[in-house]
Amino acid sequence: MIRVPTLAVEDIDLSDIEFWGRPPSERHASFAVLRAERPIAFFEEPDLGRDSALALTPGPGYRVLSRHADVVEVSRNPDLYCSGKGALTIIDLPEELVEFFAGMISTDNPRHARLRSIVSAAFSPRHIRAIEESIERVAVRLINESAGLGGCDVVTSLAAPLSLEIICNMMGVPASEHATVLRCSSVISSSSDAEYLPEGNDSLLAIFEAAQELSAMMADLANHRLTHPSDDLTTALVMTNIDGEALSESELASFFILMLIAGNETTKDSISHGILALSEHPDQRALWQADPVGVAATGIDEVVRWASPVNWMRRTVTADTILSGEELYDGDKVILLYPSANRDEEVFEDPFRFDVLRNPNPHVGFGAAGPHFCLGAHLARQEIDVMLRELLTRLPDIEVCGEPTWTQSRSVNGIKHLPCQFTPVTPST
Ligand code: HEM
Repeated sequence: MIRVPTLAVEDIDLSDIEFWGRPPSERHASFAVLRAERPIAFFEEPDLGRDSALALTPGPGYRVLSRHADVVEVSRNPDLYCSGKGALTIIDLPEELVEFFAGMISTDNPRHARLRSIVSAAFSPRHIRAIEESIERVAVRLINESAGLGGCDVVTSLAAPLSLEIICNMMGVPASEHATVLRCSSVISSSSDAEYLPEGNDSLLAIFEAAQELSAMMADLANHRLTHPSDDLTTALVMTNIDGEALSESELASFFILMLIAGNETTKDSISHGILALSEHPDQRALWQADPVGVAATGIDEVVRWASPVNWMRRTVTADTILSGEELYDGDKVILLYPSANRDEEVFEDPFRFDVLRNPNPHVGFGAAGPHFCLGAHLARQEIDVMLRELLTRLPDIEVCGEPTWTQSRSVNGIKHLPCQFTPVTPST
């Protein structure tokens, strides 16, 4: 008799950092068990302060929402499920640190609307269409740098530098600082991956130091922009004046950090997951290659559903309530588990099939509808579209030729390295 290995719900521990370093297929197997058996599961909080000079003690625990319906319900009810106590960490950070790290993503109305309105125009579909040409220019330059080599690392040669350059240009960060932004962004979003941690391995301290480095960069840039305004987002931030109030120094810093981290990591991961998925599904790749413009209309969102680059966001319950029959109490922390919601059998037909023509595709990779829905969604779609189109056209036989290396991160579904090969071609314009 063949024994089929089964995964017991009791053995799943989302607080264990090891869990987040496993390949996505293994994580998805655990999420499927949670959806079926414990869709609002309780977990003890990880003891993040244990190996750190920063004295942070774990709180009372948190609940993980693994079904699509619950993620949608919570996202659209910001009064009952707030973000102001921290959207990016499970552990409760002191208030000033929540603000420092997360900026508007960890605020509620009216402050959230006020902050979002400062930058929202720059991310509108019209504005993003206007920068398509510059995205193309960067993508083609990066592809040309590898075109003659016959192979490269998709992440470090193509996906990471594209996302980095575009968001840094939008923010007005000079090219001399791009490497620092990449290093700090990797430390902050990976949270504990040894490849990005400086010697000594106090991961919490490393995150604080990286944030401080970015904050100092913002202070310099902001000072410069006050006397040398430009058409970048940093100028918009320093010149802004809502109801007679300018942004405070810490609001500026947290805005800057949020934009750089949010704009960098997730798009890089989507492009890398996209190339991997297209390599693993030659039939889907053939469809895309035959009609890059037509298929992109549905394919890009399927890449984001498939990749689900953001693992979760947190909300905090503001009054006793009932969610899908489960009692929740004022102060309870809930985690919106996006990758799981994006494989929910109740919503997606054959959810484990990568289908570039999937339509409708109500995925929640960018968050579900609500005030915090991803501000950069149009930009991210544009970058994924351009890079995949240019790659499939200029390096038509590009394929992954080795195992991906996964980022060990609670917050993002990252790929650190992804070797690929292709027939070398002469760089072209
Ligand atoms: C495929 C790439 C991306 C994915 C998967 C993604 C995903 C997300 C998710 C899940 C949220 C939280 C939604 C919620 O809490 O309801 C979010 C928020 C946000 N994203 Fe993205 N994102 C991506 C690209 C970008 C880019 C390129 C930017 C550019 C700066 C960006 C900026 C933001 C900002 C500023 C927020 C906070 C919005 C708010 O609180 O109002 N994102 N994103």
